[in-house]
Amino acid sequence: MTETTNPAPPAADADWWRSAVVYQVYVRSFADADGDGVGDLRGIRERLPYLRDLGVDALWLTPFYTSPQVDAGYDVADYRDVDPLFGTLTDFDAMITDAHALGLRIIVDLVPNHTSSAHPWFQAALAAGPGSPERELYLFADGKGEHGELPPNDWESIFGGPAWTRLPDGQWYLHLFDPAQPDLNWRHPRVRAEFEGVLRFWLDRGVDGFRIDVAHGMIKAEGLPDVGFSSMTTGQRQSELLGKGRLPYFDQDEVHEIYRAWRPILDSYPGGRMAVAEAWAETPQRLARYIGPDELHQAFSFDFLDATWSADSFRKVIDTALAESTIVGAPTTWVLSNHDRQRHVTRYGDGEIGLRRARAAALLMLALPGCAYVYQGEELGLPEVLDLPDELRQDPAFLRTGESRDGCRVPIPWSGELAPYGFGPEGSELSWLPAPATWRALSVAAQTGVAGSTLELYRAALRIRHEHPALAGTTGGVTWLEGGPGMLAFSRTGGGTTLTCVVNISGAPALVEGYGRPLAASEDLTEQGSGHLLAVDAAAWFERR
Ligand code: BGC
Repeated sequence: MTETTNPAPPAADADWWRSAVVYQVYVRSFADADGDGVGDLRGIRERLPYLRDLGVDALWLTPFYTSPQVDAGYDVADYRDVDPLFGTLTDFDAMITDAHALGLRIIVDLVPNHTSSAHPWFQAALAAGPGSPERELYLFADGKGEHGELPPNDWESIFGGPAWTRLPDGQWYLHLFDPAQPDLNWRHPRVRAEFEGVLRFWLDRGVDGFRIDVAHGMIKAEGLPDVGFSSMTTGQRQSELLGKGRLPYFDQDEVHEIYRAWRPILDSYPGGRMAVAEAWAETPQRLARYIGPDELHQAFSFDFLDATWSADSFRKVIDTALAESTIVGAPTTWVLSNHDRQRHVTRYGDGEIGLRRARAAALLMLALPGCAYVYQGEELGLPEVLDLPDELRQDPAFLRTGESRDGCRVPIPWSGELAPYGFGPEGSELSWLPAPATWRALSVAAQTGVAGSTLELYRAALRIRHEHPALAGTTGGVTWLEGGPGMLAFSRTGGGTTLTCVVNISGAPALVEGYGRPLAASEDLTEQGSGHLLAVDAAAWFERR
């Protein structure tokens, strides 16, 4: 039996992740206990009661490891320590102990595709020079052209520009993201052994799971073949193929060997330790290969996140995702927003319309079977901040592509009249990105106890999701109901009850009847005859016993 510093909660249900609601904490923007303008582990610890009261089951913490922060911590220099910006290992231990005492599980982010260029391995590789064993841990290569002046192939960085950088000694190294994020060589046994050690390090500290960053990326096609087109040659960026096509640097079959080696490690710990893949694959079928009893437990359904605001679009992605998860025996993993994507209030139309739709989408997602991920601030109905001044933007992709993910990473408003709205300690005015004035009305304090607020809608929905027998089942599908054009309606049954979720995307108010009594609604329902009038872009849950 493995010794754990912070054992998982007693009486742990090993299958907890199958139906859990996981709250994504973007650590630098959640809560700032030390007043330096950047969120930290102590801040999370202080706010755990908020998360327990919200009704989530687990937290996913974005990387808080030692890092130069070129890509907000996704450039790790020491996988076994906490960056001083976020605290210490002692702070981590105190945070996870408190979380477990409150019944909250902790998932940490693992970044195996690349290290930081400040990682001792990469520094040693630079110093050791071409042909050295140190360079074998990364993907160094000689260039093409008479003097090796051209990159080894045509691969592009996801952040724009070539995926290769040349060193003064003439060799090139691969970085699918920023030049400060060199890709590791996962065909090297030392790399594999190192990450198995990192998994055990955090499992021993009591973590309940891992979110695997770029889970589709670790193995590159043998011989590093060209893609055949690039923004330089055809104007089309290779990253446009993400989730739609095959690239020689993503979703290679051998990547699955890595997960088959990790699964027994996770399974050797008590309490149901899990892993969720951030993976992009050409088809839902290829995505499903990442999950199952001998690989990872979950893979985010980005097709759900990408669904457009239409009944057909949602129904199609839900059906496909449920079908795939049934085949592999793993739950579907729904997500509407994260730290890389424009917040869904804004994607769905922004302003009042976007918020209405986002609230309806919450009831849709939380009624589906499987696991749901909530990105911090979505329970407050936060929109994307679109007007951040360019000089404040920190996303490394911004300089290379003009696209920036900073607008979904603005610190959370907690309370008070002035920005940053209680993000830091009393009186602190610092926050690494500024919150807009409109967020005063969206703070946790401003919405708490206010009937109809987005926060109270999430609280109510999460409570019902936990308690209602019809939502308890983790497998199986949904029964679609014919609600008319533009109406999305499905039911789930359990414990002698039926819960029906109806979303009105028809463009006009719709009469809903025959599904029983309302349990929750994203907009006020009006009684009409024996039914209820469901407003445009609204959703509601009904129960029949
Ligand atoms: C993370 C991003 C990060 C990238 C490189 C992504 O999948 O979610 O935030 O920039 O991986 O690590």
